[in-house]
Order: sequence, then structure tokens, then C-alpha cells
Amino acid sequence: MNDVIVAMENINKSFPGVKALDNVKFELRSGEVMALLGENGAGKSTLMKILSGVYTRDSGTMSIFGKEYEDLTPKQAQEVGVAIIHQELNMCKHLSVAENMFLGREKRGKLILKNTEMEEEAKRILDDLKIDINPKQAVGELPVSKQQMVEIAKALSINAKILIMDEPTSALTAKEIEELFRIIRKLKENGCGIVYISHRLEELQHIVDRVTIMRDGQYITSMNFADTTMDQIITNMVGREIKEKFPRVECKKGKKVFEVKNLNAGRMVRNVAFSVYEGEIVGFAGLMGAGRTETTRAIFGVDAKESGEFYLDGKEIKINCPMDAIRAGVVLAPEDRKKDGLCTKLSIRDNLTLPNLDLVCNKLQVVDNRKEKELCDKAVEDLKIKTPNVEIDAGNLSGGNQQKVVVGKWLARDSRVVIFDEPTRGIDVGAKVEIYNLMNKLKKQGIAVVFVSSEMPEVMGIADRIIVMCDGRITGEVMAETASQNEILTLATSFENKMIKDN
Ligand SMILES: Nc1ncnc2c1ncn2[C@@H]1O[C@H](COP(=O)(O)OP(=O)(O)OP(=O)(O)O)[C@@H](O)[C@H]1O
Ligand SMILES: [Mg+2]
Repeated sequence: MNDVIVAMENINKSFPGVKALDNVKFELRSGEVMALLGENGAGKSTLMKILSGVYTRDSGTMSIFGKEYEDLTPKQAQEVGVAIIHQELNMCKHLSVAENMFLGREKRGKLILKNTEMEEEAKRILDDLKIDINPKQAVGELPVSKQQMVEIAKALSINAKILIMDEPTSALTAKEIEELFRIIRKLKENGCGIVYISHRLEELQHIVDRVTIMRDGQYITSMNFADTTMDQIITNMVGREIKEKFPRVECKKGKKVFEVKNLNAGRMVRNVAFSVYEGEIVGFAGLMGAGRTETTRAIFGVDAKESGEFYLDGKEIKINCPMDAIRAGVVLAPEDRKKDGLCTKLSIRDNLTLPNLDLVCNKLQVVDNRKEKELCDKAVEDLKIKTPNVEIDAGNLSGGNQQKVVVGKWLARDSRVVIFDEPTRGIDVGAKVEIYNLMNKLKKQGIAVVFVSSEMPEVMGIADRIIVMCDGRITGEVMAETASQNEILTLATSFENKMIKDN
């Protein structure tokens, strides 16, 4: 058996109003990939932040490579070989890729920094990862998936012996994920111990040796991956059995609620046209970069468009900015919750209330505290947002609970069209089902639901009709019940199809 390189015992950590970790134990051996699993808010990120020196624990013991550490600083952690890829990207956007990779441990000459040397080394690491990025480019100019790859490259550049990956694949394409797995296997062979946190449970079978499961801040169990089943893992995570992964409700298709015609916005939204009817969920499938997010943004009025007509319940509506859309009853839960969906420095209450001031203000335009409380209580209850109270900063919530606040904002309004862009990204199995049920509830109420998702099984399992996009255009439409994954993939990659249409 391989050596134990990390041993954490009786770890406790509290935040105001929350016991994030309650007597947790954790063990990692060299050369293994340990999956750390648990629902949103279970304490996974907090535990790993303690191991990497970002947080100090309240009590408990921690030894790394056999040495006990009382207070571990991030720098010390780095020196002993602990690297962490954080769940939420942590880059200095204005600095270059190389500068980010060497931040805090720059190569110095007598007078100036050895920029060329750092860029060359960065390039070597990126090449090894088969990532095509110029080390001189500013990180902020890269798409999210590339930023995530830089984050991974950065962790590798410090020669990590303990590598923590907190949701590394949430923004990666299938091909990038494959590359990542290749690298993980290589690191493993070199004796590196890897902690892998992911809500994409189907990934685990490709790389994982053992799993540790947490629930509500407590250690539940550890086991060999080979000795367990996915059902067992899920039951341990959520404390109950989840019967239906994709609960579908059948509704009668009613009249047309929403129609988009002739939508053009930049290169990624070309001639998009579709309708959504009462009693159905329309899925949008496609590869990453197919133009689905751009389409949702153009509809919601975030980005400028060259053309586009919108009809709601048969009447034309004008949408030039998000406020127009919200007033008309068309709302969007965006893909990048931290950047576009939340004010992370404001409380949950403020986030929930902000777009709904028209509902909670009295005649004098002053917030009516009772109405505000009702609105917030309802959102917290309906979505089971896990928080001691609504005064907590939204940014301090666990990833999945942040997503729930984003969705919660819109539930108070009588919206007619709700667009969800990747609503289950980073969300645990139990909460995913809650989000699906929520979409189903809206569907039953006759609200038009648009569901953008890159995860084929969930679009096929939840949507009634699936529109497929490729390179900025709609390339086809299928009925979820009869369609095959292959059929959708063919449409999602039919670049030629699009060329024919172009001519
Ligand atoms: N800086 C903080 N201030 C206050 N509360 C915090 C802070 N960081 C985490 N928490 C709380 O601690 C608990 C555990 O959060 P943590 O982020 O570790 O969960 P997680 O298992 O990583 O969840 P997810 O899967 O959603 O990422 C949550 O209730 C969270 O709201
Ligand atoms: Mg987390």
C-alpha cells in the first residue's frame, strides 16, 4: 500500500452561523486519486482550503508527509508541494498567462524579472498539456475554459506532490477533459496524490481510486471506488435514495407562448428562430462555443443585436436591454453565476430583492420589510437554499447554493419565459433534481422554459424538444423521447450543413 501523505483528524471549522466542518477526517496516499464527494455546502472546498493553507482550522490535527502542521500558510503549503486549483477561477485577469503562473514566485534576475525564461517555461508546461495558448496573452482575454486550463497549468508548474482539483472540469470541453485525465494519470504514476472534487459523477470511473464522502460538514465514509456502486455513493452523499435522476412530467402542449424570429447578434448568433409552447421545456444542445449562451444573452438584451423580433403570447415585444426583458416577463439565469448572476459582495437578501424592487416597494418607493422577508423566505424554502439566514454574503455560499440564489431571483416574478443557461453546472445530484423539478413546475404552470445544457443525458432526460446549435446557427431540432445521442451529436457538429446554408 502506498504511503499516507496527508492525514487530517478531528478537523473543525466554523463560519458565522455555520459549522462548515464537524470533526472531519481525511486521508490521502501517494499515487492515488481520491474523489472528495458531497452535496453542495458539505464542506469539501473548506476542507481543501485548510489543507492548502487558505483557511486556518479551529481545531484538529493535520500532518503532511508525516510532519504535523499547526498553522499552515499558503506559502508553506506551496513549499511542501500542495497545489490547489480553486473551484472559482482565481486569476489576475490583466496579467499574462506566464505572469499568473509564476505569481508570487517569479524568477528574478539581479535587477529585473526574467520574463523570457518564465514565458519559455510556461510554454513548455502548456505544450505538455497540449494547450494552445500564448503565454504572453492576458488571462482576461481568454475564454473561461482556457482560463481553467491555465489554472491547471499553474498548479502543475509548482511541481505539486499533492494536487487538489476543486471542480476542474466544470467549464472544460470533452477534449480538454480527456487531456486533463491523461495528465492526472501521469502525475499519479509519478507518485503525486490527487484530490478530485466533482459533481460530474460519471467522470469518476475514468480516474478515481478511492472516494471520501462528506455530508453536512461531517465525514461519512471512505472506500475503494472499485468496491462500491454509483447508487451507494449517491445514497451516502445525500443521505437518502434518489429514485429518479431525470423526473419528467407529461403536460399537454398548449398555445405558443414565446417566439423568436430572425435573431442576429455577431458571429455567434445567425438567423436564430424558434418557438416555445405552453407545457414544454425546450432544450438547447450543442458543443461548447456553439452560440447558445450568446443567443440567450441577445434575447435577454445583454448584448446588442443586429436584428430580432420577439413575440410573447402573440404580441410583439421590444427588448433592447435586460430591464425591457424583465418587465415583459422574459428572464435569464446566466451561465457564469459569479460574474453575471450575482452581486457576490451583497447579501442573499439583497440579491433576491434587487431585480424585484418593483414588487417589494410600497407607494413611497421604500422597501416594505415584510414583503421583502416573504419574498426571501419563499425563495430559500422553495429552492432549499442552505444558509443560516439571508444576511450572508452571496459570495460565501457554496457553489451550488449560489446557483439557487440566481434562479431564486426570478421565481418571485410572474415571468412568462424563463431561460436557464447551464443551471446545473457545479450542482450536486440532489440539487440537480430540485432544479429539474423546478423547471417542471414552471412547465406545468404554462411558463415557457428554455434549458441550455452541455450535458447530453440531462437535456435528453428533461427537455421535451431539443434544438441543436452549431457555430452560431440552429442545425436541427429533435424530440427528446425519440432522439438518440448520436443524432444530436451529428447535428451539433454539422459545420458543413451550416456552410451549405451559408451559400
Ligand atoms: N468564507 C465563508 N464565510 C462564511 N461561510 C462560508 C465560507 N466559506 C464556506 N462557508 C460555508 O461553509 C459551508 C461549506 O461550504 P463549502 O464551500 O466547503 O461547500 P462545498 O462542499 O465545497 O460545496 P459545493 O459543492 O457547492 O462547492 C457552506 O454552508 C458555506 O456556506
Ligand atoms: Mg466547493
